[in-house]
Amino acid sequence: MPLLETQVLELKDGQKVELSAGTVEHSLNGQKFYGYAYNQQFPGPVWKVQKGASLRVHFTNDLDVSTTVHWHGLRLKNEFDGVPMVTQPEVQPGQSFDYELVFPDEGLFWYHPHVREDVQQERGLYGTILVESQETQALPVQKEVLVLDDVLMESGELVPFENRANFALMGRYGNVMLVNGKAEYALRAVQGERVRLHVLNASNARPFSLAIPNTQFKVLGSDAGFYAQPFFADHLVLGPSERAIVEVLFEEAGEYKLFNSTPVTQYTLGTIRVASSATPMEGLMESFSSLSANIISMQEYASLQAFTNSPYDFEYELTLDWKPMSGMHGPAMMNSMHSFEDGIEWEDAMAYMNGFTTSDDVTWIIRDPLTKKQNMDLTRTVKKGELKKIRFKNLDDSPHPMNHVIHVHGNRFVVLSVDGKPNERLVWKDSALIPAGATMDVLVEFSNPGTWMVHCHNAEHLESGMMTQILVAE
Ligand code: C2O
Ligand code: CU
Repeated sequence: MPLLETQVLELKDGQKVELSAGTVEHSLNGQKFYGYAYNQQFPGPVWKVQKGASLRVHFTNDLDVSTTVHWHGLRLKNEFDGVPMVTQPEVQPGQSFDYELVFPDEGLFWYHPHVREDVQQERGLYGTILVESQETQALPVQKEVLVLDDVLMESGELVPFENRANFALMGRYGNVMLVNGKAEYALRAVQGERVRLHVLNASNARPFSLAIPNTQFKVLGSDAGFYAQPFFADHLVLGPSERAIVEVLFEEAGEYKLFNSTPVTQYTLGTIRVASSATPMEGLMESFSSLSANIISMQEYASLQAFTNSPYDFEYELTLDWKPMSGMHGPAMMNSMHSFEDGIEWEDAMAYMNGFTTSDDVTWIIRDPLTKKQNMDLTRTVKKGELKKIRFKNLDDSPHPMNHVIHVHGNRFVVLSVDGKPNERLVWKDSALIPAGATMDVLVEFSNPGTWMVHCHNAEHLESGMMTQILVAE
């Protein structure tokens, strides 16, 4: 099937939509290769809905493998969460499944499979849902959805997959960077007019650090809500599955570059062409620079922040069980590329060896330090309505310490502190990047009953076991 342009659809409360997963011919830099897509689009359709609305989705699997759809970040009914064996059976080829979605929070959410994510996401299965309040929808600003990704190509094809995850140690870092499925992303804007970007990192493993030189990001929100107080930043760091809401204002007309600019590398992701405008800049700049606070969310977050110094309710350790193959240990394993900075693996500096590690010999672990129970053998139980302070300790004494992105299904949380340092910028999230060696305390609001996954969103780590569950009892 040929690939179609990504559609942007404004959907009404209660509407029924069709979604299918199928095979398509992707094209990148003029090369054609086999892949997957939702509704023949890569990324899949962008759905715009109003906060508080609901949708019904009739999903059909036109792939030759089984799949499910997970609605990342939505606090929906457990039975529609798309987790095989836990909330539904896998949708077999030719079969369908009906999902019911609700949107209690504002932000950019996304949908992707929860079966062999390492393969299915890399081949092109993901799409976004932009949820806004009526007031936000009405704002007179240019709004764009930017989905960041990277794919690993060799001789015009995706580097082959296996019947279990390969690249299991670090995850599959790509060598072609994509924005909205394109290797050369282009955006048009107008001088002095703000552009609101909703950014998602949909890659398997790569943390992105987005930058647009000669302008600044006014950071407004994260995965599932707004900050009480916006702030300016020149970089936007997003681990796989994290999102951000930012605004930019281009003071001068001309051409700007969008970079993935990390402490160790820089890639050009796209170009922004800014048309000139006759409107005087001063007033526009001034209103853009003002950082007015939102009193209501200030109060809400302050009550959560009060937990910063209280004891945690329970703890998870993040670690690894792996015996390096003989001859592949010690410094010989690493090539000379500098890839690691601030506890984050920005690049795969040992891709050759990483490619040979599989989920058969690598087990990534999320465990209870007290009982030593781990991954799907571990279930915690909490009560609906409880706020729980959870400590994630990313151990640095394993054979390969690295960053993880912890994602909690169906419920939201705030990051209270990292390494004991209080977080001054609370915001609702469902995913958080934890550097190697770091300890992160989060406060989860368990508002939604059911059995929910807590896992690393590095697709290869997930396939290598790094997932546990929490039962939220009524
Ligand atoms: Cu984005 Cu368990 O998933
Ligand atoms: Cu991980």
